[in-house]
Amino acid sequence: MVQAVAPRAQLVPEELIPRVVGRYSPVVVDRGQGCYVWDINGERWLDFTSGIAVINTGHCHPRVVAAIQEQATKIIHAQANIFAHEPMMRAAVELTATLPDSLNQVFFTNSGAEAVEGALKLAKVATGRPAIVAFRGAFHGRTHAAMSVTSSRAKVRGHYEPLLPSVYHAPYPYLFRSPYGGSPEDADLAYFRELESLFDQLVLPEDVAAILMESVAGEGGYQVPTARWVRLVRELCDRHGILLIMDEIQSGMGRTGKMWGFEHFGVVPDIITVAKGLASGMPVSAVAADKAIMDRWAPGSHGGTYGGNAVGTAAAVATLQVIRDEGLVENAARMGQRLMDGLRDIQADHPVIGDVRGLGLMVATEFVASDGAPNAAAANRVIAACLAERVLLLTCGTYDQAIRIIPPLTVDAGQIDGFLEVYRRAVAGI
Ligand SMILES: Cc1ncc(COP(=O)(O)O)c(C=O)c1O
Repeated sequence: MVQAVAPRAQLVPEELIPRVVGRYSPVVVDRGQGCYVWDINGERWLDFTSGIAVINTGHCHPRVVAAIQEQATKIIHAQANIFAHEPMMRAAVELTATLPDSLNQVFFTNSGAEAVEGALKLAKVATGRPAIVAFRGAFHGRTHAAMSVTSSRAKVRGHYEPLLPSVYHAPYPYLFRSPYGGSPEDADLAYFRELESLFDQLVLPEDVAAILMESVAGEGGYQVPTARWVRLVRELCDRHGILLIMDEIQSGMGRTGKMWGFEHFGVVPDIITVAKGLASGMPVSAVAADKAIMDRWAPGSHGGTYGGNAVGTAAAVATLQVIRDEGLVENAARMGQRLMDGLRDIQADHPVIGDVRGLGLMVATEFVASDGAPNAAAANRVIAACLAERVLLLTCGTYDQAIRIIPPLTVDAGQIDGFLEVYRRAVAGI
């Protein structure tokens, strides 16, 4: 006998969606526009999560919506091994136009993790070497290889061992909590020495295909490395024929007040991964590298059914054009400075904020206990107080000790100032 299915209205999400999908807010969302979303009761919420740094052009930017609608009427699935198509080619043109000359070919994929998988495979093929060096506190995704290079939280990796072998982790500069003695301004050199010591103790440099790093750490806590440290990493790669992969998935697409995080440090990586903000919420990601590196991928040695999806890449074209035409990178730099100044004012009155850090609109405040320890409880209370004023925020950091503030790059001064008032009240009230 066929079992009767419960009518949809009677089902609550907990019965349909596994608990692994934890939720930060009670909002059942109906629609979004710019920096705001509206719930099914018509209440408006200020979204300073950007759907985890994705909606850089704001929710439902009209030009992105129009591009999706128009492309959907033409062809949705133009499988990349079967057809070339205009949206994918134009997306590659628009994307490479924002990149240095040596990042001149683009392989499209569907998620951040998939782009990381692709970049790692490409580095192995291009160098013929087996090992990967990644950094402690990094987040690169949840597929098996991406998880193996991730170390932002043990629970991302826990119970999934064994992971990919020949992955070595070095500490990433977390200058606010540097464990090294000596002068704080030289802590980056101590971090670099730790990286170098991998080659003395654990793996020969000639066995290393790539050093993989986020240009600014994301999930691990929004740590910004020094330019000196990043340059030293670049030089180390050059010295040993190692490819430098920069994961720009969270830090790219204008988020840091430059188009790409690496631009802050005066280096050019060999391979980058892009996702999140690339297509304003459509699941599009990419690996970019020089043709000479990409050519090492023989036809059929990497691929996927959906990569370069026509509707998704049409959204990517519109996204890249909106970012350029509306000056969103410049706006991110300007609004980021306003946000940072306002947060530093709040910090001056409330020592529970131990650190305000970031670049552009990739900003976080780290909460500390009276002994300086990470204070997740305070961060969570601030999140809850903001939620009560219908402002959406996310935490980051291994202990959830920091709150990241990542509005759409379309945010204006009034919205930043309004947010700062809410945040000040929330911090004062804990
Ligand atoms: C830097 C970085 N790399 C990779 C990923 C994984 O992206 P996705 O969740 O699309 O697989 C993320 C996601 O947060 C990220 O921040």
